[in-house]
Amino acid sequence: MQHDKETGLPPPDADSTHHSQRVAAHIREQITAAGGSISFAEFMQHALYAPGLGYYVAGAAKFGADGDFITAPEVSVMFGRVLARQCAEVLAATDSGSILEFGAGSGKLAVDVLGALQELDALPAHYDIIEVSADLAQRQQALLRERVPQLASRVRWLSELPRRHVGVVIANEVLDALPVERFLRTETGVRQLRVTVDDGEFRMQESDAPTHLLAAVERIEADLGERLAPGFVSEVSPAMSGWLNDVAAALPHGAIFLLDYGVSRREYYAAERDNGWLRCHFRHRAHGDPLTHVGIQDLTSWVDFTAVADAAVASGLEIVGYAPQAQFLLGGGLELELKEFTSLPTKTQIELSGQVKILTLPDEMGENFKCMALRRGTVPVPSAFRHADRAHTL
Ligand SMILES: C[S@@+](CC[C@H](N)C(=O)[O-])C[C@H]1O[C@@H](n2cnc3c(N)ncnc32)[C@H](O)[C@@H]1O
Repeated sequence: MQHDKETGLPPPDADSTHHSQRVAAHIREQITAAGGSISFAEFMQHALYAPGLGYYVAGAAKFGADGDFITAPEVSVMFGRVLARQCAEVLAATDSGSILEFGAGSGKLAVDVLGALQELDALPAHYDIIEVSADLAQRQQALLRERVPQLASRVRWLSELPRRHVGVVIANEVLDALPVERFLRTETGVRQLRVTVDDGEFRMQESDAPTHLLAAVERIEADLGERLAPGFVSEVSPAMSGWLNDVAAALPHGAIFLLDYGVSRREYYAAERDNGWLRCHFRHRAHGDPLTHVGIQDLTSWVDFTAVADAAVASGLEIVGYAPQAQFLLGGGLELELKEFTSLPTKTQIELSGQVKILTLPDEMGENFKCMALRRGTVPVPSAFRHADRAHTL
């Protein structure tokens, strides 16, 4: 395959190119309407979620071998099965609790969690899904009907957060898909990175940081105890705290499992990370140019889990655990899941051990991918964290 000389990315096919041109035209219109530039967060919002056009909203494959990236539930059923064990512990402490999953992707995690909970005789009253993409919601419905037809009637798609949800909330790789602001620290202040159009092409542009961004960077610097170095570029996620606050307000009793690529604030804003954590994914290649392949590539930013912890505490939630995925899975029942391993056919054993390696090895998803659990009310600390809680590092 011929790769683009500048970006090293494989060329999109004709349909994708055409689609990208339509998304780019839509964003150019937004930039013109806004007077010449939009914030990077607005650009990311349009590129991912513009109605009928954005990357998550239109019909591209996205997940798995034919798509652009792979997530833990797509790697292995083991991820969902261990998470199901943790959900069962919380559900057992609630009165007819339900599960609410945000951003269910292909629906694979819902299939695996429900299947495992049925085996554990711990099915939730309902399994609700909130999905911003109508296209993905349809794919989720089809997958659940195909894989767990006997359980599909328990699953409901909600267009908004219910007023009251008792039980478990799951968000796997949702926080990293919320639009982020990008900023630049200079000698004298903080600049906002915006997107403009120059000669028909998208370009980054600097401008004075608006109050909310300036306040966010000042809070980070106060927390770190020092100023970021001049020239330091990074991100903040203004949408995250509002999202978590809304979820917390709807949860009188239960736990939230947030699973994502992320690090503590000290690591996030470490001197050597002076170009931030924004990553773009196109056909399984990760790169750093959000202004190319517009609307046909994923844009994602790793999570500052200290910011999530602060937002959780401000929303009245208690942090009950924070651990890398490897520890979460090993502490949470992976061994129990693998106990019949040697009785499986050799081919299945080889496949499963390959999948478990991807989920747990430090240079795969084992260390960079974290699970944070939050609770309200009398639910037990999930067993996955009893021996491996790193919340003190946040
Ligand atoms: C990176 S994908 C992860 C999909 C799936 N959870 C997985 O792990 O395979 C992000 C998902 O979050 C959804 N999403 C993004 N923002 C959302 C929001 N505010 N509420 C609900 N879903 C959202 C996207 O449409 C997409 O399904």
